Amino acid sequence: MSIFKKILLSISLISSVIFLPNSFSAETVLITGANRGIGLALAEQFQEAGYNVIGTARKPTKAKKLSALGVRLEQLDIADPTSVSALAERLDGAVIDILVNNAGIGGHSTDAFSDLDIEKLHKVFNVNSLGPLRVTQALLPNLDASKNKRVASISSKMGSIELNTWGCCFGYRGSKAALNSFNKVLSMEFGKQGFVFVVLHPGFVKTDMTRGRGNLTTKESSSGLFKVISELKAEDNGKFYDYQGKPLPW
Ligand SMILES: NC(=O)c1ccc[n+]([C@@H]2O[C@H](COP(=O)([O-])OP(=O)(O)OC[C@H]3O[C@@H](n4cnc5c(N)ncnc54)[C@H](OP(=O)(O)O)[C@@H]3O)[C@@H](O)[C@H]2O)c1
Repeated sequence: MSIFKKILLSISLISSVIFLPNSFSAETVLITGANRGIGLALAEQFQEAGYNVIGTARKPTKAKKLSALGVRLEQLDIADPTSVSALAERLDGAVIDILVNNAGIGGHSTDAFSDLDIEKLHKVFNVNSLGPLRVTQALLPNLDASKNKRVASISSKMGSIELNTWGCCFGYRGSKAALNSFNKVLSMEFGKQGFVFVVLHPGFVKTDMTRGRGNLTTKESSSGLFKVISELKAEDNGKFYDYQGKPLPW
């Protein structure tokens, strides 16, 4: 090998040693319900910022927009314990730095209390409250393997008892209030191990859930949420913020 070639080889070896750790340092975020709405916009935000994104969908073959982003796509129904444990098995040993519990539903609601079918409320609690708890429990070892472990659950101002000035929506309000309460417990249990748990209100966003009503696009909401989530610090553990990082009352 000529001296010139040896010099070139040494330069490339040295530069790979210097630059390799950076190229391997991208954090991994897992976003549930990433096939549409706020979840899809969040997947896009995180991917554009250079994160490794795992986006989940109940029906991956139908998640065309998510799959077009080129992120890792995983099947997950957060209401189904078998689906949750299957995901945990597939991700066994993988490090997850950020879990975004985004998937949620509006659920059964009526104008008159007398018309409320209380048995139908099991579903909204199973998805909005127990779903994030299930996913968090199943992926806890993956999160624990990260040096910067954060769990952001997309809640709602509707889950705030203090901000409830107009009634409505037993199931949705109650399920998000329960999610907020679970988040507080988790923040207490795992804060000392370096976890940061927060619940976030995304704003009133134009999605299928709101039938296109709202004062924010998914892009506006998700860019705010992205900033809040990516900048979370230890002192944020157990807090409730909106998409602009403004603290909200319980
Ligand atoms: N839009 C708003 O103004 C607003 C305000 C406050 C809070 N939020 C919260 O923001 C989050 C996202 O809402 P969005 O407005 O983007 O709603 P969306 O457009 O209706 O999207 C909901 C997402 O959740 C998924 N999902 C529903 N049930 C699921 C389950 N059992 N397992 C896995 N995924 C499931 C849906 O998947 P499929 O396509 O398979 O149904 C979809 O990807 C929700 O937690 C919602 O409560 C929204």
